Amino acid sequence: MRYWSIPPLTAPSDVRPIYERNLGGFAAQTSISWAITMPQDDAFIGDCSLFRIDLTHRHAEVGYGLHRSHWRRGIMREALGAAFAFAFDTMQLNRLEADIDPQNEASLGILTSLLFRREGYLRERWFTGGVVADTVLMGRLRSDA
Ligand SMILES: CC(C)(COP(=O)(O)OP(=O)(O)OC[C@H]1O[C@@H](n2cnc3c(N)ncnc32)[C@H](O)[C@@H]1OP(=O)(O)O)[C@@H](O)C(=O)NCCC(=O)NCCS
Repeated sequence: MRYWSIPPLTAPSDVRPIYERNLGGFAAQTSISWAITMPQDDAFIGDCSLFRIDLTHRHAEVGYGLHRSHWRRGIMREALGAAFAFAFDTMQLNRLEADIDPQNEASLGILTSLLFRREGYLRERWFTGGVVADTVLMGRLRSDA
């Protein structure tokens, strides 16, 4: 949660508004959230999402998070690969974008490995828990390869 734009969740009840926002976004066709689960026991270990979907201009933002006990095993690359294929091939989106804390090396690394390019830098864009943070804007076009 260190680099998210909201403070860490501290109670199960914190999840309810996020869950309801996700359901509302899906109904309104402005977001899709996928749960990432382990095949052997269906345990929930993370999620990835498309949000601020704009079907007119054919773009969306991407978000993702994985429980730290599963980091660095290629799980999010597999999940995002599937989500991006859905975005480009099924939804016919043209562009995906992400807004990343410049210190979040894992997030910058995974997007770079999935053909995103660094497109911009915004200073002091977020105040989260009293801390201000800059943003790196990353983008990938359907035609990027
Ligand atoms: C970012 C995150 C989802 C990566 O998930 P992951 O499953 O560990 O990533 P993968 O194992 O699929 O890694 C794919 C590639 O991403 C890059 N990468 C992943 N973790 C990295 C790290 N800690 N440092 C640098 N590059 C990293 C590498 O290029 C990696 O390929 P490689 O392992 O062959 O070198 C995970 O670190 C996480 O949940 N972080 C906290 C939440 C977060 O920051 N979300 C994004 C907010 S914008």
